[in-house]
Amino acid sequence: MKIAFIGGGNMARAIIGGLAAKKTDAEIAVKDPNADKRDALARDFGAQCFEQASDWIAKADMVVLAVKPQVLKSCLQEIAPFISDSATVLSIAAAVPVESIVRWSGKTHVVRCLPNTPAMVGCGFSGLYAGAQADDVDKNRAEAVMKSVGRVLWVEDEDRLHVVTGGPGSGPAYVFLFMEALSSALENAGMSKSEAHELALSTVEGAALLARRSGEDFAKLRENVTSKGGTTAKAVEAFEDGGFRDLVDAAVQACMNRSREMSRLFGAS
Ligand SMILES: NC(=O)c1ccc[n+]([C@@H]2O[C@H](COP(=O)([O-])OP(=O)(O)OC[C@H]3O[C@@H](n4cnc5c(N)ncnc54)[C@H](OP(=O)(O)O)[C@@H]3O)[C@@H](O)[C@H]2O)c1
Repeated sequence: MKIAFIGGGNMARAIIGGLAAKKTDAEIAVKDPNADKRDALARDFGAQCFEQASDWIAKADMVVLAVKPQVLKSCLQEIAPFISDSATVLSIAAAVPVESIVRWSGKTHVVRCLPNTPAMVGCGFSGLYAGAQADDVDKNRAEAVMKSVGRVLWVEDEDRLHVVTGGPGSGPAYVFLFMEALSSALENAGMSKSEAHELALSTVEGAALLARRSGEDFAKLRENVTSKGGTTAKAVEAFEDGGFRDLVDAAVQACMNRSREMSRLFGAS
């Protein structure tokens, strides 16, 4: 499959790296204004890199839109004349609805994807949504590309991508915030900065791996390590008394509200 990436930044690099690591037969071309990024992608992954849109885009079976949402409209107006009508257009731009992409580009085979930063280490999670006129070929192409950097979930309703944003999309930052807080608490209790960092990191890494490998419900896993009257029980009680669950719920709601607001903003016109 020939894939043209429009934008060669962090997320494009993660996906291109994933495709290279999986040794797929994908032929990669990239458009990016930055010469250093183009050189690095050519050197590291053998990508063909371009500064300008031109006929090379027409050869692509899939065009991945990997620019910031704010510039997507102008970027699409620049590249749309070169995109083949049968190409799959996979947009990873946050918040821009399929309907806007179809309107700005005149292309109909559109799939939207919401990836997250752990894609950079092959442990990503992507929500995928197929536009009304995307077919099975488009879905299979999009899924194959995003599976090269992690897990995927198809959603039937585009609004559900806001929920994906509230979870794995923005969620790595929630976990980093928890790690920061845990690390500070351990420092306050006498550990050095580097020891506290390692302790917090190992806590989250080990717990996530245990949850993945065991396949157990989170509540069950928590109960398994919480003896009545013991140390963990006291800590969990402090979290519950402090309204931890309500706080997480409010954070996810705030994230989804902003995501819907951004969709209205970036998808307009
Ligand atoms: N990073 C994440 O966690 C994440 C998660 C989910 C979704 N996304 C989405 O993924 C998309 C890319 O994010 P990113 O973090 O990879 O951003 P990024 O690192 O800024 O990459 C975007 C690249 O596109 C280039 N660009 C700008 N205008 C262009 C044009 N007309 N043609 C070709 N390239 C152009 C930019 O160059 P300049 O820097 O020179 O402008 C930059 O190198 C965004 O829409 C974002 O919403 C990102």
